[in-house]
Amino acid sequence: MVVSLDDTKRNAIAVKLASLKVLQQLVLENEKQLLQQGLDSEISDRIRDFIKDDEKNLGILETVIGQYGIQAEPKQTVREFVDKARKMFQGSELSLYEKVSQHELLKHQVVMSGLIVHKAAQKVGADVMLAIGPLNAINFENRAHQEQLKGILEILGVRELTGQEADQGIWARVQDALAAVSGVVGSAVTQNSDKKDMNIQDVIRADHSKVNTLFTELLQSNDPQKIQEYFGQIYKDLTAHAEAEEEVVYPRVRAFYGAADTQELYDEQAQAKRELEEIKALSPSSPQFKEKVKQLMDAIGDHIRQEESTMFAAIRNNLSSEQTEQLATEFKAAKKKIQEKLGVVSEAKS
Ligand SMILES: [Fe+2]
Ligand SMILES: [Fe+2]
Repeated sequence: MVVSLDDTKRNAIAVKLASLKVLQQLVLENEKQLLQQGLDSEISDRIRDFIKDDEKNLGILETVIGQYGIQAEPKQTVREFVDKARKMFQGSELSLYEKVSQHELLKHQVVMSGLIVHKAAQKVGADVMLAIGPLNAINFENRAHQEQLKGILEILGVRELTGQEADQGIWARVQDALAAVSGVVGSAVTQNSDKKDMNIQDVIRADHSKVNTLFTELLQSNDPQKIQEYFGQIYKDLTAHAEAEEEVVYPRVRAFYGAADTQELYDEQAQAKRELEEIKALSPSSPQFKEKVKQLMDAIGDHIRQEESTMFAAIRNNLSSEQTEQLATEFKAAKKKIQEKLGVVSEAKS
Protein backbone atom coordinates (compact mmCIF):
# COMPACT_ATOMS: atom_id res chain seq x y z
CA MET A 1 0.00 0.00 0.00
CA VAL A 2 1.26 3.45 -0.85
CA VAL A 3 0.90 5.92 1.95
CA SER A 4 -0.77 9.10 0.86
CA LEU A 5 1.28 12.10 1.86
CA ASP A 6 -1.71 14.37 1.97
CA ASP A 7 -3.15 15.34 5.25
CA THR A 8 -6.12 17.66 5.38
CA LYS A 9 -5.46 19.40 8.68
CA ARG A 10 -1.80 19.98 7.97
CA ASN A 11 -2.60 21.32 4.53
CA ALA A 12 -5.31 23.60 5.91
CA ILE A 13 -2.80 25.13 8.32
CA ALA A 14 -0.32 25.54 5.45
CA VAL A 15 -2.95 27.45 3.46
CA LYS A 16 -3.63 29.65 6.50
CA LEU A 17 0.10 30.37 6.86
CA ALA A 18 0.32 31.29 3.17
CA SER A 19 -2.70 33.59 3.59
CA LEU A 20 -1.06 35.15 6.62
CA LYS A 21 2.01 35.87 4.52
CA VAL A 22 0.13 37.78 1.79
CA LEU A 23 -1.73 39.74 4.46
CA GLN A 24 1.55 40.60 6.15
CA GLN A 25 2.94 41.73 2.78
CA LEU A 26 -0.08 43.98 2.30
CA VAL A 27 0.43 45.41 5.77
CA LEU A 28 3.94 46.45 4.76
CA GLU A 29 2.80 47.98 1.46
CA ASN A 30 0.13 50.00 3.26
CA GLU A 31 2.56 51.28 5.84
CA LYS A 32 4.99 52.45 3.19
CA GLN A 33 2.09 54.26 1.49
CA LEU A 34 1.02 55.89 4.75
CA LEU A 35 4.51 57.29 5.25
CA GLN A 36 4.08 59.36 2.08
CA GLN A 37 0.96 61.11 3.35
CA GLY A 38 2.66 63.90 5.28
CA LEU A 39 1.77 62.71 8.76
CA ASP A 40 3.00 64.40 11.96
CA SER A 41 6.37 63.25 13.19
CA GLU A 42 5.10 61.22 16.18
CA ILE A 43 2.85 59.20 13.87
CA SER A 44 5.49 58.84 11.14
CA ASP A 45 8.02 57.60 13.70
CA ARG A 46 5.63 54.95 14.90
CA ILE A 47 4.86 53.84 11.35
CA ARG A 48 8.56 53.63 10.58
CA ASP A 49 8.91 51.35 13.60
CA PHE A 50 5.99 49.24 12.36
CA ILE A 51 7.75 48.85 9.01
CA LYS A 52 10.93 47.69 10.71
CA ASP A 53 8.99 45.13 12.79
CA ASP A 54 6.88 44.01 9.85
CA GLU A 55 9.85 43.46 7.55
CA LYS A 56 11.52 41.35 10.21
CA ASN A 57 8.26 39.50 10.89
CA LEU A 58 7.76 38.72 7.22
CA GLY A 59 11.21 37.09 7.24
CA ILE A 60 10.34 35.11 10.37
CA LEU A 61 7.05 34.05 8.80
CA GLU A 62 8.90 32.74 5.73
CA THR A 63 11.22 30.76 8.00
CA VAL A 64 8.21 29.38 9.89
CA ILE A 65 6.60 28.23 6.63
CA GLY A 66 9.82 26.46 5.57
CA GLN A 67 10.07 24.90 9.00
CA TYR A 68 6.41 23.85 8.91
CA GLY A 69 7.33 21.92 5.79
CA ILE A 70 4.35 22.42 3.47
CA GLN A 71 4.27 25.19 0.87
CA ALA A 72 0.77 26.35 0.03
CA GLU A 73 -1.17 28.90 -2.01
CA PRO A 74 -3.12 31.48 -0.04
CA LYS A 75 -6.86 31.03 0.05
CA GLN A 76 -8.67 32.41 -3.02
CA THR A 77 -10.90 34.72 -0.97
CA VAL A 78 -7.85 36.15 0.78
CA ARG A 79 -6.16 36.84 -2.55
CA GLU A 80 -9.26 38.64 -3.77
CA PHE A 81 -9.47 40.58 -0.54
CA VAL A 82 -5.82 41.66 -0.86
CA ASP A 83 -6.34 42.90 -4.42
CA LYS A 84 -9.41 44.89 -3.46
CA ALA A 85 -7.83 46.29 -0.31
CA ARG A 86 -4.70 47.32 -2.22
CA LYS A 87 -6.74 49.23 -4.80
CA MET A 88 -8.76 51.03 -2.13
CA PHE A 89 -5.63 51.90 -0.22
CA GLN A 90 -3.85 53.33 -3.22
CA GLY A 91 -6.92 55.15 -4.51
CA SER A 92 -8.17 58.55 -3.45
CA GLU A 93 -11.75 57.81 -2.32
CA LEU A 94 -10.68 57.11 1.26
CA SER A 95 -9.70 59.86 3.66
CA LEU A 96 -6.50 59.41 5.63
CA TYR A 97 -8.54 58.44 8.69
CA GLU A 98 -10.39 55.84 6.65
CA LYS A 99 -7.16 54.40 5.30
CA VAL A 100 -5.69 54.02 8.74
CA SER A 101 -8.96 52.54 9.87
CA GLN A 102 -8.78 49.93 7.07
CA HIS A 103 -5.22 49.27 8.06
CA GLU A 104 -6.19 48.64 11.66
CA LEU A 105 -8.80 46.12 10.49
CA LEU A 106 -6.14 44.44 8.37
CA LYS A 107 -3.84 44.20 11.39
CA HIS A 108 -6.71 42.68 13.30
CA GLN A 109 -7.13 40.08 10.57
CA VAL A 110 -3.42 39.27 10.69
CA VAL A 111 -3.51 38.94 14.47
CA MET A 112 -6.53 36.64 14.36
CA SER A 113 -5.04 34.46 11.61
CA GLY A 114 -1.86 34.11 13.64
CA LEU A 115 -3.77 33.21 16.79
CA ILE A 116 -5.93 30.69 14.94
CA VAL A 117 -2.84 28.98 13.51
CA HIS A 118 -1.41 28.85 17.02
CA LYS A 119 -4.61 27.33 18.46
CA ALA A 120 -5.02 24.89 15.56
CA ALA A 121 -1.40 23.75 15.94
CA GLN A 122 -2.17 22.66 19.49
CA LYS A 123 -4.73 20.24 18.05
CA VAL A 124 -2.48 18.76 15.38
CA GLY A 125 0.77 17.84 17.08
CA ALA A 126 3.87 18.80 19.01
CA ASP A 127 5.90 18.99 15.78
CA VAL A 128 3.53 21.68 14.44
CA MET A 129 3.73 23.63 17.69
CA LEU A 130 7.51 23.52 17.40
CA ALA A 131 7.54 24.72 13.80
CA ILE A 132 5.19 27.63 14.37
CA GLY A 133 6.68 28.70 17.72
CA PRO A 134 8.12 32.00 16.40
CA LEU A 135 4.62 33.06 15.29
CA ASN A 136 3.83 33.99 18.88
CA ALA A 137 6.28 36.85 18.80
CA ILE A 138 4.78 38.08 15.50
CA ASN A 139 1.27 37.87 16.93
CA PHE A 140 2.35 39.91 19.90
CA GLU A 141 3.95 42.64 17.83
CA ASN A 142 0.92 42.92 15.60
CA ARG A 143 -1.28 43.25 18.69
CA ALA A 144 1.02 46.03 19.89
CA HIS A 145 0.77 47.78 16.50
CA GLN A 146 -3.01 47.56 16.72
CA GLU A 147 -3.04 49.45 20.01
CA GLN A 148 -0.90 52.20 18.52
CA LEU A 149 -3.09 52.38 15.42
CA LYS A 150 -6.05 53.09 17.69
CA GLY A 151 -4.17 56.11 19.02
CA ILE A 152 -3.35 57.30 15.50
CA LEU A 153 -7.02 56.88 14.53
CA GLU A 154 -8.13 59.02 17.43
CA ILE A 155 -5.82 61.85 16.40
CA LEU A 156 -6.73 61.69 12.70
CA GLY A 157 -10.45 61.20 13.35
CA VAL A 158 -10.79 64.21 15.63
CA ARG A 159 -8.76 66.29 13.20
CA GLU A 160 -10.91 65.30 10.23
CA LEU A 161 -14.19 65.95 12.03
CA THR A 162 -13.33 69.17 13.84
CA GLY A 163 -10.13 70.55 12.36
CA GLN A 164 -8.80 70.56 15.92
CA GLU A 165 -6.29 68.50 17.83
CA ALA A 166 -7.52 65.64 20.03
CA ASP A 167 -7.10 65.87 23.80
CA GLN A 168 -3.70 65.22 25.29
CA GLY A 169 -2.96 61.88 26.81
CA ILE A 170 -3.55 59.61 23.82
CA TRP A 171 -0.06 58.18 23.80
CA ALA A 172 -0.13 57.65 27.56
CA ARG A 173 -3.30 55.60 27.13
CA VAL A 174 -1.71 53.68 24.25
CA GLN A 175 1.26 52.99 26.53
CA ASP A 176 -1.08 51.56 29.20
CA ALA A 177 -2.78 49.36 26.62
CA LEU A 178 0.61 48.08 25.41
CA ALA A 179 1.57 47.23 28.97
CA ALA A 180 -1.68 45.28 29.37
CA VAL A 181 -1.03 43.35 26.14
CA SER A 182 2.53 42.50 27.13
CA GLY A 183 1.31 41.37 30.56
CA VAL A 184 -0.74 38.73 28.78
CA VAL A 185 1.87 37.66 26.25
CA GLY A 186 4.95 38.04 28.44
CA SER A 187 8.32 39.02 27.13
CA ALA A 188 7.73 37.94 23.53
CA VAL A 189 8.50 41.39 22.21
CA THR A 190 11.94 41.69 23.73
CA GLN A 191 12.84 38.17 22.63
CA ASN A 192 11.87 39.10 19.13
CA SER A 193 13.62 42.44 18.91
CA ASP A 194 16.88 40.98 20.23
CA LYS A 195 16.81 38.12 17.81
CA LYS A 196 19.88 37.79 15.60
CA ASP A 197 19.69 36.31 12.14
CA MET A 198 19.72 32.54 12.22
CA ASN A 199 22.92 30.90 11.08
CA ILE A 200 23.10 27.58 9.24
CA GLN A 201 23.63 25.66 12.48
CA ASP A 202 20.42 27.16 13.98
CA VAL A 203 18.37 26.27 10.93
CA ILE A 204 19.70 22.72 10.66
CA ARG A 205 19.30 22.16 14.39
CA ALA A 206 15.67 23.34 14.24
CA ASP A 207 14.92 20.85 11.45
CA HIS A 208 16.59 18.06 13.41
CA SER A 209 14.62 18.72 16.53
CA LYS A 210 11.38 18.88 14.57
CA VAL A 211 11.98 15.50 12.95
CA ASN A 212 12.89 14.01 16.35
CA THR A 213 9.55 15.24 17.67
CA LEU A 214 7.77 13.65 14.72
CA PHE A 215 9.48 10.30 15.30
CA THR A 216 8.47 10.41 18.96
CA GLU A 217 4.88 11.29 18.08
CA LEU A 218 4.71 8.48 15.56
CA LEU A 219 6.14 5.85 17.87
CA GLN A 220 3.82 6.88 20.69
CA SER A 221 0.72 6.61 18.54
CA ASN A 222 -1.39 3.52 18.00
CA ASP A 223 -3.78 5.09 15.56
CA PRO A 224 -2.90 4.04 11.97
CA GLN A 225 -4.27 7.29 10.62
CA LYS A 226 -2.14 9.41 12.95
CA ILE A 227 0.85 7.18 12.20
CA GLN A 228 0.34 7.77 8.50
CA GLU A 229 0.03 11.50 9.09
CA TYR A 230 3.26 11.65 11.08
CA PHE A 231 5.09 9.52 8.57
CA GLY A 232 3.90 11.73 5.72
CA GLN A 233 5.39 14.75 7.47
CA ILE A 234 8.63 12.90 8.32
CA TYR A 235 8.93 11.91 4.67
CA LYS A 236 8.51 15.49 3.46
CA ASP A 237 10.71 17.04 6.13
CA LEU A 238 13.58 14.59 5.75
CA THR A 239 13.48 14.77 1.96
CA ALA A 240 13.56 18.57 1.88
CA HIS A 241 16.19 18.78 4.63
CA ALA A 242 18.51 16.15 3.15
CA GLU A 243 18.29 17.45 -0.42
CA ALA A 244 18.93 21.01 0.72
CA GLU A 245 21.97 19.85 2.70
CA GLU A 246 23.28 18.02 -0.35
CA GLU A 247 22.69 21.03 -2.56
CA VAL A 248 23.96 23.81 -0.32
CA VAL A 249 25.75 22.62 2.82
CA TYR A 250 27.79 19.51 2.00
CA PRO A 251 29.48 20.96 -1.12
CA ARG A 252 30.41 24.00 0.96
CA VAL A 253 31.90 22.13 3.94
CA ARG A 254 33.72 19.43 1.98
CA ALA A 255 36.93 21.45 1.64
CA PHE A 256 37.44 21.91 5.38
CA TYR A 257 35.36 19.06 6.85
CA GLY A 258 37.16 16.50 4.72
CA ALA A 259 36.15 14.49 1.67
CA ALA A 260 35.75 11.21 3.57
CA ASP A 261 33.55 12.56 6.36
CA THR A 262 31.44 14.50 3.88
CA GLN A 263 31.02 11.43 1.71
CA GLU A 264 29.85 9.50 4.75
CA LEU A 265 27.06 12.04 5.23
CA TYR A 266 25.97 11.67 1.60
CA ASP A 267 25.99 7.86 1.90
CA GLU A 268 23.97 7.87 5.11
CA GLN A 269 21.36 10.09 3.50
CA ALA A 270 21.17 7.86 0.42
CA GLN A 271 20.56 4.91 2.76
CA ALA A 272 17.91 6.84 4.72
CA LYS A 273 16.18 7.74 1.46
CA ARG A 274 15.95 4.06 0.51
CA GLU A 275 14.52 3.22 3.92
CA LEU A 276 12.00 6.03 3.66
CA GLU A 277 10.75 4.59 0.36
CA GLU A 278 10.54 1.10 1.86
CA ILE A 279 8.46 2.36 4.76
CA LYS A 280 6.27 4.39 2.43
CA ALA A 281 5.31 1.17 0.66
CA LEU A 282 4.16 -0.49 3.91
CA SER A 283 0.79 -0.23 5.55
CA PRO A 284 0.95 1.89 8.72
CA SER A 285 -0.99 -0.81 10.57
CA SER A 286 1.49 -3.55 9.66
CA PRO A 287 3.78 -4.72 12.48
CA GLN A 288 6.98 -3.97 10.50
CA PHE A 289 6.00 -0.37 10.02
CA LYS A 290 7.00 0.90 13.46
CA GLU A 291 9.97 -1.44 13.58
CA LYS A 292 11.34 0.06 10.36
CA VAL A 293 10.58 3.57 11.55
CA LYS A 294 12.50 2.84 14.76
CA GLN A 295 15.52 1.65 12.73
CA LEU A 296 15.35 4.74 10.56
CA MET A 297 15.11 6.96 13.63
CA ASP A 298 18.25 5.39 15.12
CA ALA A 299 20.21 5.76 11.89
CA ILE A 300 19.07 9.38 11.51
CA GLY A 301 20.00 9.96 15.16
CA ASP A 302 23.61 8.95 14.49
CA HIS A 303 23.71 11.07 11.37
CA ILE A 304 22.34 14.10 13.26
CA ARG A 305 24.89 13.67 16.06
CA GLN A 306 27.70 13.69 13.52
CA GLU A 307 26.41 16.84 11.86
CA GLU A 308 25.82 18.70 15.10
CA SER A 309 29.17 17.77 16.64
CA THR A 310 32.01 17.54 14.12
CA MET A 311 30.41 19.21 11.11
CA PHE A 312 29.15 22.17 13.15
CA ALA A 313 32.59 22.51 14.77
CA ALA A 314 34.19 22.61 11.33
CA ILE A 315 31.71 25.25 10.21
CA ARG A 316 32.37 27.35 13.32
CA ASN A 317 36.11 27.15 12.77
CA ASN A 318 36.10 27.91 9.07
CA LEU A 319 33.23 30.25 8.25
CA SER A 320 32.57 33.78 9.47
CA SER A 321 29.22 34.60 11.04
CA GLU A 322 28.17 36.45 7.87
CA GLN A 323 29.00 33.32 5.88
CA THR A 324 27.01 31.04 8.19
CA GLU A 325 24.03 33.43 7.98
CA GLN A 326 24.33 33.56 4.20
CA LEU A 327 24.46 29.77 4.11
CA ALA A 328 21.26 29.68 6.20
CA THR A 329 19.54 31.90 3.65
CA GLU A 330 20.67 29.66 0.78
CA PHE A 331 19.62 26.53 2.69
CA LYS A 332 16.13 27.92 3.39
CA ALA A 333 15.70 28.93 -0.26
CA ALA A 334 16.77 25.49 -1.48
CA LYS A 335 14.43 23.82 0.99
CA LYS A 336 11.55 26.00 -0.17
CA LYS A 337 12.11 24.96 -3.79
CA ILE A 338 12.21 21.28 -2.84
CA GLN A 339 9.06 21.65 -0.75
CA GLU A 340 7.35 23.25 -3.73
CA LYS A 341 8.47 20.35 -5.90
CA LEU A 342 6.94 17.97 -3.34
CA GLY A 343 3.66 19.74 -3.96
CA VAL A 344 2.22 23.16 -3.28
CA VAL A 345 -1.15 22.60 -1.69
CA SER A 346 -4.11 24.83 -2.29
CA GLU A 347 -7.32 25.11 -0.34
CA ALA A 348 -9.63 22.08 -0.25
CA LYS A 349 -12.23 22.05 -3.02
CA SER A 350 -15.11 20.93 -0.81
FE1 LIG B 1 22.16 15.40 6.92
FE1 LIG C 1 20.86 17.38 8.87
